[in-house]
Order: sequence, then structure tokens, then C-alpha cells
Amino acid sequence: MAAAGSAIGLGSIWKFPYVVGQNGGGAFIILYIVCSLVFGLPLVMNEFLIGKLSGRSAYGAFRALTGTNRWQWLSWVFLVSVIVIMSFYFLVTGWCFYYMVEAASNTFAGMDAAALRAHFSAFEANALQMTIYAAIAIVLTASVLWFDVNKGIERLSKILMPILFLFLILMAAHMISLDGGTAGLHYLFMPDFSKITSKVILQAMGLSFFTLSVGMGILITYGGYMPKDQNVTSTSVQMIVLVIIVSLLSGMIIFPAVFAYGFSPSEGPELTFVTLPAVFQHMFSPTLTSVTFFGLMCVAALTSTISLMEVVIAFICEATSTTKHPLNRHQSTIVTALILVVANTLCILSMTGHADWLTVKGQNLFNSFNALSTNILIPVGALGTALFSGWFVPKARYQGSRVGSFLYLVVLRWLVPIAIVIIFLDSINII
Ligand code: TRP
Repeated sequence: MAAAGSAIGLGSIWKFPYVVGQNGGGAFIILYIVCSLVFGLPLVMNEFLIGKLSGRSAYGAFRALTGTNRWQWLSWVFLVSVIVIMSFYFLVTGWCFYYMVEAASNTFAGMDAAALRAHFSAFEANALQMTIYAAIAIVLTASVLWFDVNKGIERLSKILMPILFLFLILMAAHMISLDGGTAGLHYLFMPDFSKITSKVILQAMGLSFFTLSVGMGILITYGGYMPKDQNVTSTSVQMIVLVIIVSLLSGMIIFPAVFAYGFSPSEGPELTFVTLPAVFQHMFSPTLTSVTFFGLMCVAALTSTISLMEVVIAFICEATSTTKHPLNRHQSTIVTALILVVANTLCILSMTGHADWLTVKGQNLFNSFNALSTNILIPVGALGTALFSGWFVPKARYQGSRVGSFLYLVVLRWLVPIAIVIIFLDSINII
């Protein structure tokens, strides 16, 4: 449940719907589910097992299992990947805060689709405001880790995440009953396979790994905390099913609203933020409903930012512990928070057009970081972990577990690496 709480976040509620919308709906969802079950499941199980066998985090696990330093580079890939994710994740967490505040002050009352779009664009053009909200998210997350109250937050999230789940179900039921809402379901669940290209497959795989938090070594840490007798297979299945359900629920909330209120499915990253306030206005107590929704979205985002940031802090502590200048937890927290403030501010400046030199191939940094993590860093991390376990961990370690030997000898050695490499090369037009 802790792993699911950390994995369920903006990936499922914000990123999933808009990426589905940009990639044509139903067929993409099938790919997403297939990737999650065929590649995601073995990779999740594998990370849990690496943690369970080594009792370490991603930083020490590879050395502990092989006795060499040859796999240390993979920890660095994970670190870069987590930092790149946080460089835009906090920014979007800031959007959630802003929308919660705006909802509480009843700003959206009477706005139609065009006005809501304009409202978001105005916010998105205001570098200072966005920086302040992102900074609030960073400082809040850093304070939780600084004061070491993450256990308390975890307990709180055990109550709030099920509430989020119930709320999403109620919302989905309401949306489907909207006039025109069934067009959204049609879009979501009637696959149009002509929309599938190799780039779309790579996106589906990347999105699946992103929402499952796999390929970044994060789940290794959770595996380290597992009791010896805990069943890795059923734990992984439960976690994956929960993430898929929350993602699908978000889709079932957003797409009926998109079609009922005249938005476009391919609106982009602002999809959740522009469509939902349109619907909330016609619901029971608009202010209460929208504050609750954006508030719960903030909670889901924060449980993710806390575990993302924790990884970097722990990494800095461990990596500097053998140097002349070891950093303690508090110092590492400050260093991490500063890196994040700089990275998020750069993203914001490049989005608002204040720093045109900060573009990569004509894309602003926000889009570039988003794509870099989902389409490159996470698949590379996943490939590395699969190869590590399939080929380099002494086989003797997995004897005694039938699932373990199958997983290692067939799936992680061959299936996952070959598939990732083919999907990857195909989408950059090498094949
Ligand atoms: N899975 C998270 C989400 O869907 C994002 C994420 C990726 C994450 N890697 C992570 C969260 C590591 C926590 C830890 O929003």
C-alpha cells in the first residue's frame, strides 16, 4: 500500500489523461495496459526482489548483490531520471495548489470552456506566480523530510488515498451520466488501431513505467522493507492493478467532461485543469467539490514528491559519506531543494518565453524534461535493471522460487530487454 500510495500521483491523474488524449484514446489504453502487465509487472517484481534480497536502496543494492562496482552507473541513471522528473513534477504540483486556492475563492463560477482555457493560459504566462506555487510545493515536501514526519504523512495518506479513490468513483459515475458523456467513454474504450505507430507504443510503455514508478530503482527501497515471508507476486499485482484502476478512473472522469463541454481531447498538459472546473460548476456545491478534488490531487502529488525527493537526499548522503565532505540529511535536503528550485524555475522561464535559449529542438524545457524522462531515461533504467537481474546476479540467489527462476531466466533475460530495445530503436526510426 505504501508503494501504491507513492506511485499513484500526477502520473495517473494528470499525465495519463492528456497523453491518452494526444494519442487517440482506446487503442493507446490497450497498449498502456498490455505494457503494464507484460513488462511492468515483471519489472516491479524484479525491483521488489532486488530490494528484498539485498536489503538496500538502489545505491547499494547492485554492489551488495554482485560484489562489484560495475553496476554503479545504473544508480546514476536512476538519480538523473528522478531529478529530471522532479524538475517538472513540482511545477505541476504547484498548478494543483493554485487550482485549489482558485477553487476555494470561487474563481471558476460562470466560466465557459474558452474562459477556462484563457484562465489557464494567463496563469501559465505568469512566471512569478508559477514559481511561487512550485516553490511552495518544494518547501512543503522538503519540510516533511527535514522534520522527519514522513511516517506521519504516510499514515495520513492511508486515510486520504482511499478517500481519493472513492471520490474518483463517484465523480466518474457523475460524468458518465452527463449529456454527451458517453462520447467520452466511446473515445476511451473503442480502440481505433489506425492511431498506433511505433512512437505511440514507446509513449505507452514510458507512461506505464512512469505511473508505476518502475525503472528508477525506487521500488528497490520498498522491497528492502518487505518482511521475508511477504509474497512479491501478489504485492506487485495489487499495486499495478490499483495504479491502472486510478488511471482509468481519471480517464473516465475527464473524457466525458471533454466531450460534454466542448473541449478537445488533445488539449495537452492543461487538460485536467481546464476541463474539470467546467463540470464542477454544475455539480452539488461547486466550491466544495472542486476544492476537494484539487485538494486530494495535491495529496496524491505530495505523497509522490516526498518519495521522489527522499531518494535524492538518501543518495547524496550515501554518495558523500566516503568523501572528504560528507553531507548529513539536513544538508542534503537543502542541497536537493536548491537544485529543484533552480530546475523548476528554469522550466518555468522557458515555458513563459523569458528564456528562449532554454529550448531543446524547439520544445521548452518542461516538455523536453517530460519527454526525456518518460521516453528515454525510464526505459533505459528499466532495461538496465532487467539486464542486471537476468544476466549478472548469481543464479543461486533465486533458487527456491519458481516464479523467480522463470522471471529471471526468460522474462528479464530476453523478453523485456528485446522488447524495450526494439520499441526504442523503432521509434527513433533506426529500424
Ligand atoms: N508514479 C508517479 C506518478 O504516477 C511518478 C513517479 C515516478 C514517482 N517515479 C516515482 C513517484 C518515484 C514516487 C517515486 O505520479
